[in-house]
Amino acid sequence: MFESSTREIPAPRKVPRHIAIIMDGNGRWAKQRMLPRVAGHRKGVEAVRTTVRACIERGVEFLTLFAFSSENWRRPAEEVSILMQLFLRALEQEVAKLDENGIRFKVIGDTARFEPRIRELIAAGEALTAQNARLTLTVAATYGGRWDIAQAAHKLIAANPEAAQTFAPEALERFLSMAYAPEPDLFIRTGGEQRISNFLLWQLAYAEFYFTDMLWPDFDAAALETAIASYRQRERRFGRTSEQVEASD
Ligand code: IPE
Ligand code: IPE
Ligand code: MG
Repeated sequence: MFESSTREIPAPRKVPRHIAIIMDGNGRWAKQRMLPRVAGHRKGVEAVRTTVRACIERGVEFLTLFAFSSENWRRPAEEVSILMQLFLRALEQEVAKLDENGIRFKVIGDTARFEPRIRELIAAGEALTAQNARLTLTVAATYGGRWDIAQAAHKLIAANPEAAQTFAPEALERFLSMAYAPEPDLFIRTGGEQRISNFLLWQLAYAEFYFTDMLWPDFDAAALETAIASYRQRERRFGRTSEQVEASD
């Protein structure tokens, strides 16, 4: 399934097939309202529901959301614990609804770091929804792009020790945690920062980047529409000249 933008040029599309989002700004949203940070995270879960719905309406096939990074473990123990509780509750309450809506649910990340109950719910949710095809919703949790590349390299060498001689990108891609999905076409980051923060380092090679100051809890269908409109204005050259792109259309 992995369609590599450095091996083949993806077909142009009006609606991005795969959108990847760094959902940032929950803490600031709460702070602006003199609320505890958890209030922002809670509201952020609502924005996730809205965005999933909007993606289905738009015909987006893959939505990948960065929920908790490898580096977020550095946060105060209390906030980490609250985020884990929220994730646990979301798994308990939302997975059945995802299934009813024909959504395939996936989690990528170093999930061995999660408590057993969360790991069980993830496994159950993935199994329940495995055959759904309307939208693939991937939650990146305890995920880091460097972790992903390192674990893929480890698996590649374990599967084929001779691969260490050539180490071709195509060989590695099969073992990346999102090998089931095409690369993201559109990358969105809310919250005003313009950085990747160790998200999908390999997979974003040719994604179009869109940054907005809007805080994640405020993100909605209209905001998604604005991001897609910006994406439509881009000329995706994948290394070619503009003339080549025009001739190929
Ligand atoms: C994103 O919001 C959610 C997580 C990283 C879990 P933040 O919690 O980073 O919010 P800000 O950046 O402090 O506003
Ligand atoms: C990135 O947000 C991770 C998630 C949204 C889950 P952060 O708020 O952790 O990123 P930095 O620390 O500002 O780069
Ligand atoms: Mg942040």
